[in-house]
Amino acid sequence: MSVKSLVAAYNELTKLDLRILRVIEVAHRKYEWVPIEVIVKWSNRSWELVSKSLRKLNALGMVLRWRGSYTGYRLTYTGYDALALHTLSKKGIIERISPTPLGVGKESDVYVAEDPAGNKLVIKFHRLGRTSFRQTRKFRIWVGERRHITWLYESRLSAHMEYKALVMTFNAEVTVPRPVAVNRHAVVMEYIDGLKLSEIKTGLENPEEVLGSILDDVAVTFRDVGIVHGDLSEFNVLIEIESERPYIIDWPQWVPRDYKNAIELLRRDLENITTFFRKEYDIEIDIEEALRYITEGIELKELELEEAFEEILTQKELKTYVLGEEAEESIEKTLDKIEREFRTTGKEDKERVTIGVLEKEQRNDENPAHQKDEEGYPN
Ligand SMILES: Nc1ncnc2c1ncn2[C@@H]1O[C@H](COP(=O)(O)OP(=O)(O)O)[C@@H](O)[C@H]1O
Ligand SMILES: [Mg+2]
Repeated sequence: MSVKSLVAAYNELTKLDLRILRVIEVAHRKYEWVPIEVIVKWSNRSWELVSKSLRKLNALGMVLRWRGSYTGYRLTYTGYDALALHTLSKKGIIERISPTPLGVGKESDVYVAEDPAGNKLVIKFHRLGRTSFRQTRKFRIWVGERRHITWLYESRLSAHMEYKALVMTFNAEVTVPRPVAVNRHAVVMEYIDGLKLSEIKTGLENPEEVLGSILDDVAVTFRDVGIVHGDLSEFNVLIEIESERPYIIDWPQWVPRDYKNAIELLRRDLENITTFFRKEYDIEIDIEEALRYITEGIELKELELEEAFEEILTQKELKTYVLGEEAEESIEKTLDKIEREFRTTGKEDKERVTIGVLEKEQRNDENPAHQKDEEGYPN
């Protein structure tokens, strides 16, 4: 990790630096370590300018250098974060971002952000993939020979899978943060002003109602949406302070209910939640009864994972999630786009890209939910 925060590092970038990050990103389709010659050629700038920029990007922790039979560079998560941040800000989805993450989870960095109207959002930058795609190597067909930069594809896949789940469940009126956008490995969603269920412990006023609402949402998710969360626990439920509404978060590992192990995952989800309420509130729920109620009258196909996903996701979605929006485009076409986006003739090379920094709020400092994720480790 770089010493500088993401936003501080981002605000040091010029258009040329961003262009070079983009070129490396595109070149990762072909190279794990992108030869400096390729970066120079594709970025269409002089060797001196490119080397200078690469040194700076390296110092900012956005690229790594490798010296072997040739000199090559690769993106780091911070570099990839900067690219996603740039696109999100250019599209007008976010205007400001917090200087530090509110939560560093096992597999994500979550920042508070604001849209141009001042609405509070969060950006969740996914780290290594948490989707079940990882367990089933078969989905590798999609990744093909691009396997060498697994982290980049897996983190993007993870984000797209989570976004898809949020859209489907939100539309079915499950209580989840409203999904706003997805770009690369970053999901933007509504900010929930709350505490994790794990942190509230015995502090709920109406525990029966909260548990009831969670179980209803699990049922709607299974019956109407057709999926299972797969990592439900007191760590992935945020209780909104004012209303005591429980929001189910952290969806990248969802599976279709027609997946042959879906019922086991559903049972585990139910076990985690009911165990918490039994321990903290002495509320007894019969899991088998709950399972029967949730699955009643639904015929399950018990498919292999990839077949089950194909029932829910279109081929185009699968391709986009794994390979990215530009999957279908030639490298030349993508380079043309970069050319248009970062015209770096003359003085524009040095033009800064900027994003607003959110004031650090009282609440963020005091609220333990807004610090480190309980399950998580530092990045
Ligand atoms: N929509 C949100 N609103 C407020 N805080 C959030 C939101 N989403 C995530 N968080 C915070 O970030 C932490 C990590 O998010 P989570 O989705 O659980 O990812 P991870 O896979 O890292 O556990 C959460 O525990 C919570 O504190
Ligand atoms: Mg979590």
